Amino acid sequence: MAAKRHLMILCGGRSAEHEVSLTSARSVLQVLDPQRYEVTVVGITRGGRWILDPRLQKAIREGLTAIEDEAWQEGVSWLQGLLQVFDRRLAQPESRPTVVFPLLHGPFGEDGTVQGLLEILGVPYVGAGVLGSAIGMDKAVTKDLLQAFQVPVVPYLVFREDTDASLEDIAREAQEFLEFPMFVKPVNLGSSVGITKVKRPEDLVPALKTAFLYDTRVLVEQGVEPAREIEVSVLGTAPPEVSVPGEIVPAHEFYDYEAKYLEAGSRLLIPAPLDPEETARVQNLARLAFLALGLEGMARVDFLMNAETGEIFVNEVNTIPGFTPISMYPKLWEASGLPYAQLIDRLVDLALERFERRRRKAVHWQAGGESWDKSS
Ligand SMILES: Nc1ncnc2c1ncn2[C@@H]1O[C@H](COP(=O)(O)OP(=O)(O)O)[C@@H](O)[C@H]1O
Ligand SMILES: [Mg+2]
Repeated sequence: MAAKRHLMILCGGRSAEHEVSLTSARSVLQVLDPQRYEVTVVGITRGGRWILDPRLQKAIREGLTAIEDEAWQEGVSWLQGLLQVFDRRLAQPESRPTVVFPLLHGPFGEDGTVQGLLEILGVPYVGAGVLGSAIGMDKAVTKDLLQAFQVPVVPYLVFREDTDASLEDIAREAQEFLEFPMFVKPVNLGSSVGITKVKRPEDLVPALKTAFLYDTRVLVEQGVEPAREIEVSVLGTAPPEVSVPGEIVPAHEFYDYEAKYLEAGSRLLIPAPLDPEETARVQNLARLAFLALGLEGMARVDFLMNAETGEIFVNEVNTIPGFTPISMYPKLWEASGLPYAQLIDRLVDLALERFERRRRKAVHWQAGGESWDKSS
């Protein structure tokens, strides 16, 4: 039998999706075969402290919904804490993690920052690398690149805070190029935080103000109406595999934070009711978007489809999609013939493959010197 794999799950974190992350971690923990995996859980508190406490894994398995700073005092502060976490693991060669699975969403997890630390430490990890993660988190750069690869996106404008333009100027420019309804979004967040659907001119400035609370760059987009929301799961390298498409029917007017996380009203249709041409088109676009954006391992590509004209646009990509039992990413793979547990195995394999592929190239990038796990 093959040697046991060591998997280090990173979960929690400072984003609005802290709880989603823990639910995802619980699902992954439940399916990992203890005969084949030894698992370490590193939890990040809402405040950003890294916790390596064996009780955490048990607590998450039993349904912990948040890693509160007050409750978990064993941890140490950011950076110092991170290094200690990894040092302690390194000090025990037999329990070195083979692969890190960052199950973190949003800033400080999905945006390339944690991936950068793992690169420096020389640890293989699941999912997109530094560049792909950073691109995927930035809705404006994502759209710029997709356009360059002729992947259809809705018309959009990006505004920066550090210019002389007032919010009124920005609102005027938006109306010159775009029609109502528009969507005003912070460039960098996720989970619909700070996003407003704007139907009237007088609502633009307040929407801009809201979006600028969260980010220094704001995107104003042409709204698709009536919109259908189609998603495709992507897995692998080049060419990546794509799943059957799924569709989300939001309970609210759009798929806002409440519809996503607070109410169970939204429905998933798997597979999405699309004709064969439409299905092939979204699958091809998902593959193309994955390659255009430099993604690796996994991603969920989200589309907006005009329900009347059938026009299809890529809306965004998620480089660390949810892994809860009701999450679209694993559900789409299940419907495509890849069960949850096998999906996790594949992701771990892909992480190791990428690590090996790059190790073979490199003298210069392996700055960490000692590589993490030469024996595997
Ligand atoms: N251009 C658009 N046209 C129509 N609906 C949109 C548009 N942009 C966003 N939405 C709606 O807002 C939701 C959240 O926007 P999205 O860009 O996906 O941000 P997030 O990263 O927060 O998921 C989408 O799921 C969709 O319901
Ligand atoms: Mg979205």
